Amino acid sequence: MFKISYSVVVLATTILCSTETYLKMFYGERTNDYPKSSCLDIGKFQSTGRCLQVCGNTLDMLIMISHNMETRTCMCCDDITGSDIIGSNWKTYIPPPCGDHFATYDLFSFQMYLKYVGVDVDYPSAVANCEAERSSVIRIDSQEKFDIFKDYVVPIANNTLTQVWVQGEKVGQEWQFHDGSPMPDFCPISMSNGSTEIRLRAYGITSFTCYDAPETSTYHYLCEHYRVLAISI
Ligand SMILES: *[C@@H]1O[C@H](CO)[C@@H](O)[C@H](O)[C@H]1NC(C)=O
Ligand SMILES: *[C@@H]1O[C@H](CO)[C@@H](O)[C@H](O)[C@H]1NC(C)=O
Repeated sequence: MFKISYSVVVLATTILCSTETYLKMFYGERTNDYPKSSCLDIGKFQSTGRCLQVCGNTLDMLIMISHNMETRTCMCCDDITGSDIIGSNWKTYIPPPCGDHFATYDLFSFQMYLKYVGVDVDYPSAVANCEAERSSVIRIDSQEKFDIFKDYVVPIANNTLTQVWVQGEKVGQEWQFHDGSPMPDFCPISMSNGSTEIRLRAYGITSFTCYDAPETSTYHYLCEHYRVLAISI
């Protein structure tokens, strides 16, 4: 289970809204921050729950939400580099800090958390174990992400051959991420083409190649998540 530190507010209650939709879980931490001029004003909502939900449906990567209890203004932010919108009655939430044993990296304008799990498991277990911590198996979708992967794993490998599951599925002849989008080969892919070898493991000591593998093989794995407000509906 994901460990929640004392300062994190979890609105685990079901917030019923005017329509049939409802918000089930929200992980966020209340702060005294003001919304920023770089946030998106999405209009006026009666409840903070509804503001959160509409923000979650509007932006993919939410890093702050502010709801004004007086004016009902709802601000959604995926960029907090703007200047403060000063006022009273703002209720602001930011994502919780990373859980135990996660390392923090800056990637583009986001913070990313990574955790290396040095236990040999099959691919479905790696996926399930990461999901249990609101994470996913690492998705190497940019050169920057691959560089972070290497920076993080090489010292852990400590000059021994290391094999870790990375996100990917071979569908026909194409490698895809879990969401079905094509997987670029920033981690150079090398295949032996066995019919069951539909997953990928990164293999190396100081430089890494991604080899195809059956999902029943067992390797270490890496979980990642972004420091964003996770709203599950
Ligand atoms: C790395 O490996 C060396 C040699 O085997 C060992 O002495 C050292 O303790 C290891 N470092 C870590 C951090 O595990
Ligand atoms: C597997 O298939 C790829 C693409 O068709 C090919 O480049 C590669 O050489 C094959 N690997 C082996 C070991 O046959």
